[in-house]
Parts: sequence; C-alpha cells; structure tokens
Amino acid sequence: MKKTADLKKFYQYAFPMKAALLTTIDKNSKTNIITVAWHTPISKNPPLFGVSVAPSRFSHDLIKNSKEFVINFAPYDIVKNIHFCGTHSGRNTDKQKETNLSFVDSKIVKPKSILECFSHLECKLNNIITIGDHSLVVGEVVNLTYSEGIFKDDVIDISKTKPCFYLGNKVYSDISKNKISF
Ligand SMILES: Cc1cc2nc3c(=O)[nH]c(=O)nc-3n(C[C@H](O)[C@H](O)[C@H](O)COP(=O)(O)O)c2cc1C
Repeated sequence: MKKTADLKKFYQYAFPMKAALLTTIDKNSKTNIITVAWHTPISKNPPLFGVSVAPSRFSHDLIKNSKEFVINFAPYDIVKNIHFCGTHSGRNTDKQKETNLSFVDSKIVKPKSILECFSHLECKLNNIITIGDHSLVVGEVVNLTYSEGIFKDDVIDISKTKPCFYLGNKVYSDISKNKISF
C-alpha cells in the first residue's frame, strides 16, 4: 500500500543529489563558498547551468553583485568541508580560512576554483529568477576545467571522481555503501 507523503518534504523524494560547492566573491574579491544540491544543466546551446539559491543566503547577494560564480563538483573525500560550507554563512564565517581547501585562479571569471574538486564550471550570470522561496540562478558556462583522467571513452569515471551524494537530514554517501552521518 502506498503512503501519502507530507508535501512540504516533496524534495526528499528527489534525493540523492550531488553536492557541489559554489564559489563567489565579495566586493573586496574575498571568496565565499556555499554548498548546493539543487542544481542542473538547463541548456546545451548556449551552455547554461541552473542553481536554486534561497534569497536569504549571503551567496545570493554576492552572485547578484559580482555576476560570476564557479560550480565545483565535489568528491566525497571532502565531505566535512561540504557540510561545513552548507551549515555556516559567509556573513559571519570566513569559509576560505575555516576549510582546508585549496583555491586556484579560474581561467575567465574572478571567483576561484577549488583544487580538490574534480571539475569546475566557470559561469557568468545570465539570469536570476525568483520562483517561490528560491531563485533560479542561471549561469552561462564560459570555461570548464577538470582533473585529468576522469573520463574514459567520453564517459565520466565515477570510481575516480567519487561524487558526494546528499541524502538529506545531514546524511551523505559516496557511490559505495559508505555513509557518514553528522
Ligand atoms: C548538502 C547541502 C546542500 C544544500 N543545497 C542548497 C541549495 O541547493 N540551495 C540553497 O540555497 N541552499 C542550500 N544549502 C544551504 C546553504 O548551503 C547554507 O544555507 C549556507 O550556510 C549558505 O551560505 P552563505 O550564507 O555563505 O551563502 C545546502 C546545504 C547543505 C548542507
């Protein structure tokens, strides 16, 4: 017998979602990092990537002002940093300092890319549309970098990238049975 679900938690039924780290900068070029799970490619030509960001996030203001961001696809190895960046705000925490991540210059946009991540979509803001209680932040992908050897015959090798899946309720998993609960 199927159960009727609580509509407020409809999004749980879309889990797992891949955790990514979005980097932006403030007016002094200081980096901020926000963890995002609600993201998706939305157009191939032009290359557009969408991220759902709540207007209350500090990153929402930074993206609106700087008009640039990087989507860093994150491996399970850095799950503690992923959780940290998703539970602390750049309004009162210097996440670049507090994490042990390495930041490298991006090729085209000003926000840095995260070395420990296996691919980086450098985006220029194309549109930002507030829908319900989130904004769909649409970025045009203007450059892309990735770790060598993660593709085999043009297919991504998840045994190399080891993506980090978010299952909700502070629970994360890699592609095996390993799981971590904070
Ligand atoms: C695993 C995970 C995924 C998250 N995904 C999103 C998301 O897709 N969109 C969003 O607005 N917030 C998301 N959050 C919440 C933000 O990451 C969190 O509010 C963060 O502290 C905001 O940082 P900021 O204020 O520095 O921008 C997520 C949190 C976690 C832990």
